[in-house]
Amino acid sequence: MMTAADYFGGATTVYESAPGRVNLLGEHTDYNDGFMLPIATPQRTGVTIGASLDGQFHFYSETLDQSIDWSGGTLPATGFSRYMIGCVQLLMQRAIHVPPLRMHVSSNLAVGAGLSSSAALELATLRALRTLLALPLSDTTLAQIAQQAEIEFAGVNCGIMDQMAASLADESHMLFLDARTLETHLVPMPDDCELIVIDSGVPRTLAATGYNTRRAECETAARMLGVKALRDVVDPAAVEKLEDPFRKRARHVVMENQRVLTACQGVDARQFGTLMNASHISLRDDYEVSIDALDDLTALLRQQEDIFGARLTGAGFGGACVALCRRGRAQEIGARVVAHYNQAGHAGRLLIPAADTPLRTTTRSADHGGH
Ligand code: GLA
Repeated sequence: MMTAADYFGGATTVYESAPGRVNLLGEHTDYNDGFMLPIATPQRTGVTIGASLDGQFHFYSETLDQSIDWSGGTLPATGFSRYMIGCVQLLMQRAIHVPPLRMHVSSNLAVGAGLSSSAALELATLRALRTLLALPLSDTTLAQIAQQAEIEFAGVNCGIMDQMAASLADESHMLFLDARTLETHLVPMPDDCELIVIDSGVPRTLAATGYNTRRAECETAARMLGVKALRDVVDPAAVEKLEDPFRKRARHVVMENQRVLTACQGVDARQFGTLMNASHISLRDDYEVSIDALDDLTALLRQQEDIFGARLTGAGFGGACVALCRRGRAQEIGARVVAHYNQAGHAGRLLIPAADTPLRTTTRSADHGGH
């Protein structure tokens, strides 16, 4: 395992990082041109880049202790470097000259837990490239490039929430995002609250297939309703005339958008929690992206005193749950719920409150010119 200092020796480098995201409300709404409220995770992924003198690109992940070399031809079939190469290639397609580079990745963000570790990696890579090459690209443009990398190089026809959150969200506010206009603003968390995030320990194996199917169903439902996207449905009663599964899928999206807009009007913790619970039920029954483990985990969370609400977060089919909790109680309740949940043979993990030491956010001046 090599730290960035080992990897680069005394060479000049640039370091940037980006967080993962936890979505609090507004699930499966982004590709329907809708609304959502993600927040940044305290865990981040960092990318250090420096010149490569042998004409090739080199990628190294400290977390995986894995090296990949790339000379501009065929991409590696899988793995962390695909996302990074995707970003490099998309910049090149914009006629940006990217010289051969060495890139080092470090991260304390769980991979595959539904916190968008891939968006964090893409954004950290793009930020580092923007800094190194002094590219005049906005945070929103970086998110759009990252989303394209995810679609073209990871094969998930995803929306833009994860990349916008990794690019623009912070840890203490929710980021209201309108996926059609890409308008964003920060929304305060309800008073006296903190979050619990627990990885269910169930990998999101069917995620790509299930996700792409849901997206196609929504597009069909929108066509049947004669609207550009489900965001444009003005009369929820119209949705009830559709056949299943289109009726259920559309109903989830229409109601979920309303829940986000209600939450933005400044609700208290109890009301916010009620919206989260309703979101979970809708994801379970109408959108059908929950699984037993996520239902059990959210039910366990809801049974605890000082929990206002709980739901699955992210695409579903596995991954993580989020709960809104009275301030000061998250650590204890989170640990207790994980222990209880794991008694049933699960491998759940408490992700937030975070146990790890925070990763630094950007280049320190000492990193320029060596150690
Ligand atoms: C994944 C996708 C996002 C979004 C969520 C569901 O995280 O990458 O674009 O669609 O699922 O809300």
